[in-house]
Amino acid sequence: MAGVANQNILLGVTGGIAAYKSVELARLLLKAGARVRVVMTEAATRFVSPLTFQAVTGSPVRCSLFDEEHEAAMGHIELARWADQMVIAPASADFMARMALGLANDLLTTLCLASASSIAIAPAMNQRMWQHPAVQHNLSLLEERGVRVLGPESGEQACGDTGPGRMLEPADMLAALDSASGAGLFAGKKVLITAGPTHEAIDPVRFIGNRSSGKMGYALARAFRRGGADVLLVSGPVSLPAPPGVNRVNVQTALQMHKAVFENIHSVDIFVGCAAVADYRPENPQQQKIKKLSDRMDISLVRNPDILAEVATLEEGPYTLGFAAETQNLVENARAKLLAKQVDMLAANSVADGMGFESDENTLLVIWPEGEKHLPVQDKQQLAESLLGVLADQYRRDE
Ligand code: C5P
Repeated sequence: MAGVANQNILLGVTGGIAAYKSVELARLLLKAGARVRVVMTEAATRFVSPLTFQAVTGSPVRCSLFDEEHEAAMGHIELARWADQMVIAPASADFMARMALGLANDLLTTLCLASASSIAIAPAMNQRMWQHPAVQHNLSLLEERGVRVLGPESGEQACGDTGPGRMLEPADMLAALDSASGAGLFAGKKVLITAGPTHEAIDPVRFIGNRSSGKMGYALARAFRRGGADVLLVSGPVSLPAPPGVNRVNVQTALQMHKAVFENIHSVDIFVGCAAVADYRPENPQQQKIKKLSDRMDISLVRNPDILAEVATLEEGPYTLGFAAETQNLVENARAKLLAKQVDMLAANSVADGMGFESDENTLLVIWPEGEKHLPVQDKQQLAESLLGVLADQYRRDE
């Protein structure tokens, strides 16, 4: 579903201080051409008055399931049918828990069960609450059911803490709702993603590796899954859980990654090479731990196969997206790499200024033969969603 113009959007507001930002979201949605109706939970009305939303949207705001006057005008089942899309912003920890349980103990939870429309939630809560296993478990349940999760962002919070749990800014939320990466965009597509580092054994206890955390590849896997794709993640050693609904194959070395990719590549529509594959591996890994007997030691290295380049040059191969981490001359090096590897699209980032490998945020220059787009600094999950929007446009053109 692309774009919010002409859509009926049911904006659900739950009890959190970020509710004040949802007034601006309602205004932006209307400005973008959507029709907006607001439903508030009892707790939400403690933070913002229903009258505020009514004044902004020009429509009555509903807060209760048992409101005879409103039910007579547009009953809750009618309201559920009216919505093309539901957006719950902010979504509190309590609301996510009730939704995950399938409760229908107020109007908004009832609408979530009664509506066949897609549902997006924008969680907002204290960073400790957000990281609590109960909240994360509910989040996984909701994602498995196809609920789209927007944010949250990391940063300063109303309670004085700093960390993840800030609701996305209304403009970013609108961009996400409006973007081509909406639900179903990659439905029926098979996507293979490599992620994380590879570890190349020197001996049974030592290896050559790199500082890739796998965060970007995992964020892409999550984003493609949200877009309806069937996702296989071939992952090097990282400490991240597999995103809900994503199949994962774990590998250690470049050769194992190469094998896992080529065992699965033939039915794949889109290949994303996000792994930081070691270019070289020790020629003769030792079977026993190497003892420190001399002052010097040399390890002879041999080249690993270039997985991305091999996939990109397959006859009838998938659409390919590669990554390039550069420390200098980003644009020139990225263009050269696009040609050298014959990939369809390349996402390049500078790792010279502390951004990239281990950080939660990143920026990307996305290039393809006929164009380029700069994606500004943002959280890696948001960045993955933005990158998918760019990829979807080009992929559609190539298809
Ligand atoms: O050549 P360079 O390592 O900079 O290229 C990076 C891109 O190539 C990434 O997309 C990475 O996943 C992929 N790559 C690969 N196999 C290699 C080396 C890099 O798939 N052996």
